[in-house]
Amino acid sequence: MAHHHMFSEVYFNYRLKNHAEVKRRLLEQYNVSDSENEAKWNCNSTRIELTRDDILPSVTPALKEFGDELRKSAKIFMDSCWMNFYRMGAFQELHNHVVGGCQLALVYFLNYNKKTDGKFYFYNTNTEIISTEIATLLSGPVGSFGSVLYPKVDEGDVLIFPSYMHHGVSPHNGDDLRVTVSCNLRFQIN
Ligand SMILES: [Fe+2]
Repeated sequence: MAHHHMFSEVYFNYRLKNHAEVKRRLLEQYNVSDSENEAKWNCNSTRIELTRDDILPSVTPALKEFGDELRKSAKIFMDSCWMNFYRMGAFQELHNHVVGGCQLALVYFLNYNKKTDGKFYFYNTNTEIISTEIATLLSGPVGSFGSVLYPKVDEGDVLIFPSYMHHGVSPHNGDDLRVTVSCNLRFQIN
């Protein structure tokens, strides 16, 4: 009997080639002591708003490779960007980036130790309506019905994914500050 997969979700991973230089520049320019927690969130990470000029030139190669991989010519606009700081014990609650017409989200791992730091994860909202019985029946040789996916990332990586994908960050147990940059993107296919 043949089985066929239906639909799919996808994320893209790009290693920033000039990461060391971008990291030094941004961490010299912005300090955790100037970051703030936003009252509308339950999580305890803090953030600083960035300007497009702070980050757009650095991630442009990632956006270009993204377009090349999809074989699409598109104009990509950066609506907003900010730096996230995680002190020990900080986490990011589950959320998506479907705000203000944003279609894509980007996360850049600026200061990140994959062994000790809070882990970025995607969450499959479909699992909220899948019973344990059907998940158990269909899991195995034909696929997996896990609700959480931890993408393999290293410092310097840039993830690009659809803004509707729910995601979060598990509690950060590292001694060092975990720092990422997030961006909301829109595109227009030429
Ligand atoms: Fe996010």
